[in-house]
Amino acid sequence: MAEGKNLVGVDIGASSIKVVQLKESRKKLQIARWGWAPLPPQTIVDGHVMNSSAVTEALSRIFHDSKIQQRDVAIGVYGQSVIVRKITVPMMTPNELDEQIHWEAEQHIPFDIKLMSIDYEVLRHRPDAGQMDLLLVAAKKDEISDYAAILREGKLRPSVVDIYAFTIQNIFEHQYGLPQDGTIALLNLGAAVSSLNIVTKGVSAFTREIANAGNAITEEIRKSLSCSYEQAEAYKHGGGETQIVPQEVTQIINQACQALAGEIQRSLDFYLATSGEPEIGRIHVSGGSAYLAPLVQAIERRARVPVQLFDPTVNLGVDPKFVNEADVRARSAQLVVALGLSLRCDKERRQWSV
Ligand SMILES: Nc1ncnc2c1ncn2[C@@H]1O[C@H](COP(=O)(O)OP(=O)(O)OP(=O)(O)O)[C@@H](O)[C@H]1O
Ligand SMILES: [Mg+2]
Repeated sequence: MAEGKNLVGVDIGASSIKVVQLKESRKKLQIARWGWAPLPPQTIVDGHVMNSSAVTEALSRIFHDSKIQQRDVAIGVYGQSVIVRKITVPMMTPNELDEQIHWEAEQHIPFDIKLMSIDYEVLRHRPDAGQMDLLLVAAKKDEISDYAAILREGKLRPSVVDIYAFTIQNIFEHQYGLPQDGTIALLNLGAAVSSLNIVTKGVSAFTREIANAGNAITEEIRKSLSCSYEQAEAYKHGGGETQIVPQEVTQIINQACQALAGEIQRSLDFYLATSGEPEIGRIHVSGGSAYLAPLVQAIERRARVPVQLFDPTVNLGVDPKFVNEADVRARSAQLVVALGLSLRCDKERRQWSV
C-alpha cells in the first residue's frame, strides 16, 4: 500500500451507505472503524441522488455512531458517468503525456472534453512499436461534483474519486493477488446494479454495468404477491425467524435470478466473442445479492465455471475496541467497495479534483 494517511472509504449504494476506515497495526491491516446505514427506497435512482438529505443524515449518523474522526474520504462512482477505454498513443515521457492526454482523450471520448475529468494509467510500454497502451478514464464533472457537494454538506472532505470496478479490483488484488495468466471475472451484485469487471492477465480488460440486481428480485416478489417492498425484501431474505414465507416465493426468486443470470451471461459471452480469450476461469462474486444462493447457482449453471464468494475482509484484523468482528464479517460481501476505497491514501496524486 502507498505511503500516507488512509482515507475513509465511503460507498453510497442504492440501498445503503457503507463506510470503512483502515489502519496499520503491527504491520497488519486492520479495520479500525466501520459503519452501515440503510437508505429509504428511491433515495438514489439510476445513480442520481434524489433525496440528498437522506444521504447526509445517514452519513452523519454513521460517522457519529462509529466514532470516525477522520473527515477526508474516498468515494466511488459508477460507470454511467464514466468512460473507460484502452487506447494506444506514441511513446512519450510522463510530462509529455500529462500535456497530451486531453488531446488524446478528445479522439476517444464522445462528449465535450471540457465537461469531463480525465485520468489514465499506463498499461504497457511497447518500445519496438514506438507505442504505449493506456487505460483512459473520463468522468462527467457534474456527476462527481453532485456527490462531492452532498459529502461536503455532511461535513466530509472528498479527496479521491474512484470507479467502483477498479475499487473492487484493488481490494481483490490486495487480498488475493491477481492471477497473471488466465481470466477471472469480478462481479458485484448490489441492489440496483450488477457490475462486471473481467480481468485478463492481471489487467482489467472489460467492464460493464447491468442495471439489474437485488432490487429487481424484490420488486418481482412485491408485484406477484401485492405486498409492501419491506415485506418482499423480508421474504427474499428467508422471512426471518417468525415469518412464514409464501410457497410461491421460491419460484418467483428462481425466475428473477434466471433473468438476471441471463443478462450477466450475455456480457460474459460478448467478452469471450470479442476478446479472443478462450475462457473465463472463475467468477468472484461480491455485493449483498451474492448472499442470495439461487442467484449464485443460476450464474454458475449458465457460465459453467466455478463461482466463489469474494470475502474482502479475509486477512484483515479488527480493532476490538470499536469494531464488533461478527457484525463486520456478516456484511463482508457488501463492504468490497468501501474497503477498496479505504485503501486509498491522501498523498496519492490524482488528476480528478472534486
Ligand atoms: N442475506 C441476503 N440474502 C439475499 N439478499 C441480500 C442479503 N443481504 C443483502 N441482500 C440484498 O443485497 C442488496 C444490497 O446489496 P449492496 O449493499 O451490495 O447494494 P448497494 O451497494 O446498496 O446497491 P448498488 O451497488 O446497486 O448501488 C439488496 O438488494 C439486498 O436485498
Ligand atoms: Mg454497491
